[in-house]
Amino acid sequence: MKKFFPVYVRVPLLFALFFFAVEWLVGGDGEKPAFMEHPVVLILLGLFLFALIAVEIVASATNKILDRLMTPEERAAKEAETSLPFSQQPWVKKLMSKLTKTKTIQEEADVMMDHDYDGIKELNNELPPWWVGLFYVTIIFSVIYLLRFHVFDGDNQVVEYEKSVAEAQLQIEEYKKNAPDMLTADDAKYLTDPADLAVGKKLFDSNCMACHKIDGGGSIGPNLTDDHWILGGGIKNIFHTISEGGRPGKGMVPWKNNFKPSEIEKIASYVISLNGTNPADAKAPEGDIIWSKANLEEGAADAAPAEESAPAEQVAPAGEVASTEESAI
Ligand code: HEC
Repeated sequence: MKKFFPVYVRVPLLFALFFFAVEWLVGGDGEKPAFMEHPVVLILLGLFLFALIAVEIVASATNKILDRLMTPEERAAKEAETSLPFSQQPWVKKLMSKLTKTKTIQEEADVMMDHDYDGIKELNNELPPWWVGLFYVTIIFSVIYLLRFHVFDGDNQVVEYEKSVAEAQLQIEEYKKNAPDMLTADDAKYLTDPADLAVGKKLFDSNCMACHKIDGGGSIGPNLTDDHWILGGGIKNIFHTISEGGRPGKGMVPWKNNFKPSEIEKIASYVISLNGTNPADAKAPEGDIIWSKANLEEGAADAAPAEESAPAEQVAPAGEVASTEESAI
């Protein structure tokens, strides 16, 4: 043994084992190791190290004394023993014979059975204890398994799977909260949740009212409440207008650097919610594209996937003006 684990390996190894065992048993909150959280653990670790070193010193002292007391023959025998290869060491041999209970060739006659198949004979060997032990372990395991999963309803694979999916879903939500928004005009949806519209209204009131008036009736910018659109109605076009701006030189700047895409989606939804509100002193309609909230509802009524590509939503991109006939179908 000493050959494989000299003292400078043995002590740190045992100490590390003890350290991790304590860490595992006492357990910190995952952030700090246990010995930082509970000072008692530090004392315990110190004591263990002290005891280890003490044992080593005592053992080496006794060895030295024993060595001195040995006769030269005894010393030679001991040296011969320690220089044997690993598999020939007496303790290894003893262990192996305990684990396998094999008979030596000389003893085979004792276990020979009287079966004889064309000269092939059979030995009635004992089952090797390592194998029997393993077999008992599987029986114990199966009892625990049975109780845990079939009597006390432990989580089976399906439940475990669902739990980890739910956990991952939470992590994705968390990631989305902090990650830069990936939303583009193409995936933008008309949000009807009052909470989303409230956020949209707040951002609209503080950023857009200067040109579109608080009620969307329009002043420098066009009226956003009527059915006439210069740059196109519908969530995708309005999202695009807000993030990329209007025609050059008209005063509607791109807002994509001021808002996250998810915020633009909310503002655009709020703009849509203003459609048809007919505020007092509204600006005269501008733009040849006709689009109203009713287009959305029609789309929703027949609930066809075609809703996404409703013709009114596909009006000309910023800069081009589609003809009324095309867009008003
Ligand atoms: C500096 C004034 C100004 C501000 C501030 C402003 N806009 Fe505009 N907006 C305009 C003008 C001018 C146009 C017309 C652009 C054009 O003709 O190309 C316009 C056009 C639009 C359109 C397209 C209307 C249509 O008929 O197609 C939408 C939608 C819009 N603005 C929304 C917003 C939102 C939302 C905000 C706040 C984030 C905002 N605007 C802030 C001046 C402004």
